[in-house]
Amino acid sequence: MKFDIAVLPGDGIGPEVIDAAVKVLSAVQSKAGHEFRYHYEDIGGAAIEKHGVALTPQALKTCKASDAVLLGAVGDPKWDNPWAKVRPEDGLLALRKHLRLFANLRPVKVLPMLIDSTPFKPEILRGVDMVVVRELTGGLYFGRPKRQWRTSRGRRAVDTMSYSEAEIERIVRSGFELARSRRKKLTSVDKANVLESSRLWRQVTIEVSADFPDVELDHQFVDACSMRLIQRPSEFDVIVTENTFGDILTDEASMLSGSLGMLPSASIAGIPLEGMRTFGLYEPIHGSSPRRARLNMANPIATILSAAMMLQYSLALPGEARAVDRAVQEVLEEGCRTYDIMSDGFTKVGTDEMGELIARKISA
Ligand code: IPM
Ligand code: MN
Repeated sequence: MKFDIAVLPGDGIGPEVIDAAVKVLSAVQSKAGHEFRYHYEDIGGAAIEKHGVALTPQALKTCKASDAVLLGAVGDPKWDNPWAKVRPEDGLLALRKHLRLFANLRPVKVLPMLIDSTPFKPEILRGVDMVVVRELTGGLYFGRPKRQWRTSRGRRAVDTMSYSEAEIERIVRSGFELARSRRKKLTSVDKANVLESSRLWRQVTIEVSADFPDVELDHQFVDACSMRLIQRPSEFDVIVTENTFGDILTDEASMLSGSLGMLPSASIAGIPLEGMRTFGLYEPIHGSSPRRARLNMANPIATILSAAMMLQYSLALPGEARAVDRAVQEVLEEGCRTYDIMSDGFTKVGTDEMGELIARKISA
């Protein structure tokens, strides 16, 4: 089969982790006899530098014409001025919004060989296997008004957390559908004791639950959930939550797997039916980590696992996706570690080498 993949390396460590993931995809393509056609475009600071905007209409067009988008990371301290007219992050937010990718799936798994590289006791991590479904095109990130201004009594700023019933319904439905295909437990996370948007979120969630009597639903406040996530993480199956809450909870949850550099994500417009393909954007949950850029240090596994999610959801190649997951585990089992998951007695490798080792496992 032939597939078109838009590749957006972005900023900081983005280009390095993308190179490693493309190496792995190329191994998949030769092994399985597919043809992946890569279409490179700029995004974020790299796009501002060259084109003056964080996402060009051309890049958006390339993404729309592709079967999937693979993205590295955006963000560069050079553009961190609060009054900046263009920001690298805007490119990513615009891309998610324009492509209508409202469901961001962030699986959190604990690989047994990495338990010792986490700060947790092994018994806490036993059986941890959850997916956070983060709403991605609404909530506090996109609500209006959103601005900063000067008043006679100093500066002032506003952001708005806003949701329509329809926006809540479609994301919660995705959560239920995913839970139905797993351990049938859905935790909806909100702040309904304080926020009006959360009260609507909870009402709509309860209404949607009528269509999923086989899925056990519970509600948690986001503050309590952040505690439970590290107290009893194995109790979670699927979590569904607002954009900002999901952003924060998944950085926290990444520590369960050992590093922010381990967690992949898939952004899609709803869960596809078994065996069906859907367009999607695939990116690691980590940022551009500018201080580690160009040092051949960054852990490419989050991006490689994101490419595996792309194989599963957008290319409907579940066997190939599993082969990538397996290759990652084998290389870790053999003791290779990037700096972020390194501990005594293991072999330290760089970004390139980690990608190469994983690619070689697939070709073998
Ligand atoms: C993420 C990132 C992005 C977000 C940033 C880079 C805009 O932190 O994907 O989690 O906040 O969504
Ligand atoms: Mn984040």
